[in-house]
Amino acid sequence: MDTNDKLSLTTRSLHWIIAICFIALTAVGIYMANTESWSLYQLHKSIGIILFVVILLRVGWRIKKGWPAPVGQYQKIEQLMAKVTHWILLLGTMAMPITGMLYSGMSGHGFGIFGWTIVDGNHDPKNPGEVIPYNELLSAVGEQAHEIIGYTLVVAIVLHIAGACKHHLLDKDRTLLRMLGK
Ligand code: HEM
Ligand code: HEM
Repeated sequence: MDTNDKLSLTTRSLHWIIAICFIALTAVGIYMANTESWSLYQLHKSIGIILFVVILLRVGWRIKKGWPAPVGQYQKIEQLMAKVTHWILLLGTMAMPITGMLYSGMSGHGFGIFGWTIVDGNHDPKNPGEVIPYNELLSAVGEQAHEIIGYTLVVAIVLHIAGACKHHLLDKDRTLLRMLGK
């Protein structure tokens, strides 16, 4: 049960597994896309798909249990900002694996989990090093969305961490402590 004082082990475990993996996938994603490090692509895709399962569990948990109540009384604007950021983060964590799979699938590159193929690559028979997109429009939509949402979430995560620090250091309340299980 999530209460004003304590958050359940499920809420805390889901939050920290997703937070750490999501930040790592964002860093790896930006690095590999900008340096064309092809060897990292399979790792990024595999962990992204596995994390998607955990993300779905978290969304299910939120639908079942609702959002944890704030630890104290805050101004309306602060409560609204926290709510909006939490929604952006929750929906964003869904959107990233979905757009990643859309792009990789439709571009003809394919994807899977550590060698287990989910969507096969569409290799050009005349030039096996190249791929042929299954659908160019959906591939471009997936690629653009994955990039734009990814960079938007970097801003949302920075604001979210700043909010957690503000609660801990300035308000000196239990917001961060209860997420740490203290
Ligand atoms: C929580 C999951 C994920 C996060 C946080 C994430 C994050 C990112 C970020 C920030 C980038 C860099 C964007 C750019 O500069 O173009 C990226 C690139 C990429 N991601 Fe993901 N990703 C996730 C899941 C996935 C999944 C599941 C797939 C495919 C199955 C995928 C496929 C790709 C590909 C192919 C690129 C390279 C795009 C390019 O070369 O333009 N990602 N990812
Ligand atoms: C070092 C990084 C992070 C810290 C210190 C942190 C801290 C916190 C804290 C203290 C709360 C509780 C807020 C409350 O009680 O109102 C919270 C909730 C939340 N955080 Fe984070 N967080 C981090 C990273 C992330 C990341 C990367 C994401 C998603 C991409 C995320 C998504 C959420 C969501 C959706 C909630 C709402 C409660 C829930 O569904 O678990 N957080 N975070």
